[in-house]
Amino acid sequence: MSDWLGLSGRTAVITGAGGGIGKAIALELSVNGVHCNVLDRASELVDATVAEIKASGGSASGYVCDVTDEAAINSVATSIKNCDILVNAAGLVRPGALADLTTVEWNDLLGVNLTGYFLMARSFTPHLVASGNGAMIHVASISSTNPQGSSGAYSVSKAGVVIMSKQLAFELGPKGVRSNTVSPGLVRTPMTEAYYQVGDVAQRRDAAVPVGRVAKPDDIADIVTFLASDRARYITGADLVADGGFSQTLMSSVPRPGFGD
Ligand SMILES: NC(=O)c1ccc[n+]([C@@H]2O[C@H](COP(=O)([O-])OP(=O)(O)OC[C@H]3O[C@@H](n4cnc5c(N)ncnc54)[C@H](O)[C@@H]3O)[C@@H](O)[C@H]2O)c1
Repeated sequence: MSDWLGLSGRTAVITGAGGGIGKAIALELSVNGVHCNVLDRASELVDATVAEIKASGGSASGYVCDVTDEAAINSVATSIKNCDILVNAAGLVRPGALADLTTVEWNDLLGVNLTGYFLMARSFTPHLVASGNGAMIHVASISSTNPQGSSGAYSVSKAGVVIMSKQLAFELGPKGVRSNTVSPGLVRTPMTEAYYQVGDVAQRRDAAVPVGRVAKPDDIADIVTFLASDRARYITGADLVADGGFSQTLMSSVPRPGFGD
């Protein structure tokens, strides 16, 4: 059987790996022979993902690590000897219009979604450089280019992640490290599950996406796994939009009598 991606024997660090997208990424990487270091903020989340990987025959280690805690990140980076792939997926969303946001709320969200990604990238850069095949993949969002209202600093954080990744691509390219973002549209995960439980929201969300459905975490995991591999060796500084065409629907919200309305 061909191992098209050629990832077998590599080592990854994945943040938010107890959540919907992060867990799917860890599982997909492990299926491809990658040893996964699973990071999340709570031990039950970490343990569940490690157990799932091991149950499917993969190899994993777990670390409880809050991505806002610089000392905790540095301690994990010291214990993990090798890292070829860093995936930043830990994130959160909080409600609130920007004009009503407190400084604490602003800083709290950016602390996880943007500074957390930066701290991880900085701490694991030496490992990725030493790898000779280093790849960072940061989970951003289509909200980096389309303001997501009433979500506090969420869009701001994702826009920051996209430009941070591009800067890392520029700075680390000469050292053999690639950096890319994946920007999902609507994905059904623990973060968003509450919306799908309300009335016909699930059906309406599916109908809003040109391919006819919102994404599953696996849809994003496959893309991240490709970007982690040498098959993506000439891709760096890219933002790969994975939204089933949702961001192409802007014009359909404008009434145009005589044009299909
Ligand atoms: N679900 C979507 O529709 C969607 C769309 C676009 C982008 N995203 C992004 O994808 C990523 C994963 O989101 P998800 O939908 O899987 O959400 P999720 O809530 O299922 O998973 C996020 C994980 O991050 C962890 N986390 C949060 N704060 C942390 C911290 N301080 N330290 C360590 N871990 C922390 C959580 O415990 C959780 O397990 C996030 O960056 C999110 O912004 C999600």
